[in-house]
Amino acid sequence: MERILVIGCSGQIGSELTLALRKIYGNKNVFATDIKQPPADILETGPFYLLDVLDYNNLLHFAVRFKITQVYNLAAVLSGNAEKIPQQAWDINMRALMNTLELARDSDAKKLFWPSSIAVFGPTTPRHNTPQLTVMEPNTVYGISKLAGERWGEYYHKRYGVDFRSLRYPGLISYKTEAGGGTTDYAVEIYYEAIRNNRYNCFLREDTALPMMFMDDAINATIKLMDADPAKLSLRSSYNVGGMSFTPRDVANAIRKHRPGFEITYEPDFRQAIADSWPASIDDSVARADWGLSDSFNLDSMTEVMLREIGKKLSNQE
Ligand code: SER
Repeated sequence: MERILVIGCSGQIGSELTLALRKIYGNKNVFATDIKQPPADILETGPFYLLDVLDYNNLLHFAVRFKITQVYNLAAVLSGNAEKIPQQAWDINMRALMNTLELARDSDAKKLFWPSSIAVFGPTTPRHNTPQLTVMEPNTVYGISKLAGERWGEYYHKRYGVDFRSLRYPGLISYKTEAGGGTTDYAVEIYYEAIRNNRYNCFLREDTALPMMFMDDAINATIKLMDADPAKLSLRSSYNVGGMSFTPRDVANAIRKHRPGFEITYEPDFRQAIADSWPASIDDSVARADWGLSDSFNLDSMTEVMLREIGKKLSNQE
């Protein structure tokens, strides 16, 4: 029987992935943890503990006590925030990963999911339809930590037999929990501002194309990868995941189909340089061939759900 530890259950991915895992593995077998309080539905449906992944002894104690067999390590400082505190962000992102890799050696928690990102690519990478294997010279702290993390994951797999699995997520878009501090977060904020004020001042230029994915598709991809027969996994670093590709102007146009008066202005800040160093679109054919990656949302279907759900959420808060 699987007993699963989610680290970072209060964050953008964790707050949705925890509930999806509880549906599959049973509420009591999915241990939600974070350094901050989670949403009510996580508290109500199963175990939650305050746990700091940076404290190795506590982490090991926790995993042994609850007989953990799988870990989803979602703790990270995102790209924009990391640029404000480079050394600290490197330390947090790397130590969080190394602790869960070590945990896999020292306990029964041998299966580990850790998210990588399109940030592993850099300005010298081919920007369009970026291949799985290509030039990788990231120039952000976040990207450097993700690339180093992929290398460490593969190393622990080969050297110590850790069942390390990872996806290079594109920008993730969701309505439940806001991310915070990422470069792709404009594509979440824009929907909130559309509902609140029918206008948005975007921190990226209108023609900045980036790969993006709706959270439902990202959760499905994550669970599918973790379920995949290990014999099918040709990669133990991290799989490209493409999703869709769009610009801020494209999102504004998609929103106008529902809210014709929506207005957008552009005031690029330091995150423009980060976005410019990342791919515009991703080739994820290796993930499709190896373990059947698929996605179902496009910009229009996602926009419909985002506007509807954020509309409900904000009117409930009034
Ligand atoms: N969405 C992340 C960020 O913008 C990239 O992985 O930081």
